[in-house]
Amino acid sequence: MIQKKQSHSSFSGQLGFIMAAAGSAVGLGNIWRFPYLAAKDGGGVFLIIYLVLVLTFGFTLLVNDIAIGRHTQKSPIQAYEMVKPGWGFLGRITFLVPAIIMTYYAVIGGWVLKYITIYFVGEWHAAASSNYFSSFITSPISPIIYGLIFMILTSVIVYRGVQNGIEKFSKICMPILLFMIIAIAIFSLTLKHTENGVTRTGLQGLAVYVIPDFSGMTVGKFLSVLLDAMSQLFFSLSVSMGIMVTYGSYVKKDIDLNHSINMIEIFDTLIAFLAGLMIIPSIYVFAGKSGMSSGPSLIFVSLPKVFNAMGKIGVIFGAAFFIMVAFAALTSCISVLETLVADCSEIFKAPRKKVTLILTIIYSIATVIITLGYTVFYFKLKLPNGTVGQLLDLADYLSNSVLMPITSFLSCVLIGWVVKPKLIIDEMELNGKSFKRKNIYKVMVKFVAPVIMVILFLQSTGFWQWLLRF
Ligand code: PFF
Repeated sequence: MIQKKQSHSSFSGQLGFIMAAAGSAVGLGNIWRFPYLAAKDGGGVFLIIYLVLVLTFGFTLLVNDIAIGRHTQKSPIQAYEMVKPGWGFLGRITFLVPAIIMTYYAVIGGWVLKYITIYFVGEWHAAASSNYFSSFITSPISPIIYGLIFMILTSVIVYRGVQNGIEKFSKICMPILLFMIIAIAIFSLTLKHTENGVTRTGLQGLAVYVIPDFSGMTVGKFLSVLLDAMSQLFFSLSVSMGIMVTYGSYVKKDIDLNHSINMIEIFDTLIAFLAGLMIIPSIYVFAGKSGMSSGPSLIFVSLPKVFNAMGKIGVIFGAAFFIMVAFAALTSCISVLETLVADCSEIFKAPRKKVTLILTIIYSIATVIITLGYTVFYFKLKLPNGTVGQLLDLADYLSNSVLMPITSFLSCVLIGWVVKPKLIIDEMELNGKSFKRKNIYKVMVKFVAPVIMVILFLQSTGFWQWLLRF
């Protein structure tokens, strides 16, 4: 009995689940990629497409993962086999995604921690220089220490358990994050800067962000906007990584899944939208339309320049921004480690605390190795999607661009064609509430989502570009 209790954790209720799942979904993707894509892909055009896709395609994948988790009450490694004997291989593929992501997530988390300290020790002017970031990540000790601190913070929360660790932390962290991002976004809209006789305002930046810009919108461009929105979306919702299956398995049977899933979608999309509201106007005011970049260079290179240009207030703005990013990254990293803990506890039939400790040791070593990918283990590799990367980029590419579309595709085939959507629909309606988007769900899971996944897979592996040449 005690054994059973130990191996089957649960969230205390609906709010805890929503906050933890939203915490996983809201991460670096919302902050460093969504605003960039919106600025690049015609502002409002991207926003509208993204919104439609969240409500159809993203929602379908989220329903799949969460309902499979709650239906089986198992972590991903066993859940798929339980849904359909013979499909255990999908659990094993899914296991690989967090196993790879976890090798590098704490490295990035460490960079964020370093940038928080910059604003407290008065180094923000230096951080505005172009090579500050590259000299930091290529320095021998400092990035390792910050990465390990982030890893340990994550482990401590996971070690405390689902209710006492993850749920409690998310319930505190997510409202603070929301409050901070709203405050920074409002401030960002009030900015004004004159350079070379040209004055740009935050409200003009807002217009760049939200007004649909159809100039130069050809069919090809529209398709590329669509692909950008789709790949962003499924990464942003943390689907296809086993995470939402794990969190779903902690949801009690009396909880209304419809409502919870709606809230997770709203939270994730709202934070992504607010991130754009905070970043696009501030970059626009100080660096113009061409100042937008994505990924690490956006938050570690472009934004520190903007904070510096703001004068004294930039210190507060910068510190608040990086604290907020740290919260977002931490709740996501927690969900990755938790998924591995749940999987490994089931594989090795071991108590979760012991598993957490062992995984902490393994991933601390991995964090060090990935950090050294910028120095000792440095190499440059041309990836099939056309980008050039080193160790961290390679791990990121394998998990996000190769494995995630495969797991999503297979889980749609499993649900849509093998076991049939009724299994999921019954799970969604378990507590008597009707599953309102049932019909959209059925069409999406059987036909649309698998096709989208094949296209995304072809695109990220370079085949799509190759096909377009003919
Ligand atoms: N959903 C997160 C984001 O948008 O940044 C991404 C993420 C979370 C990636 C958890 C990986 C992960 F394991």
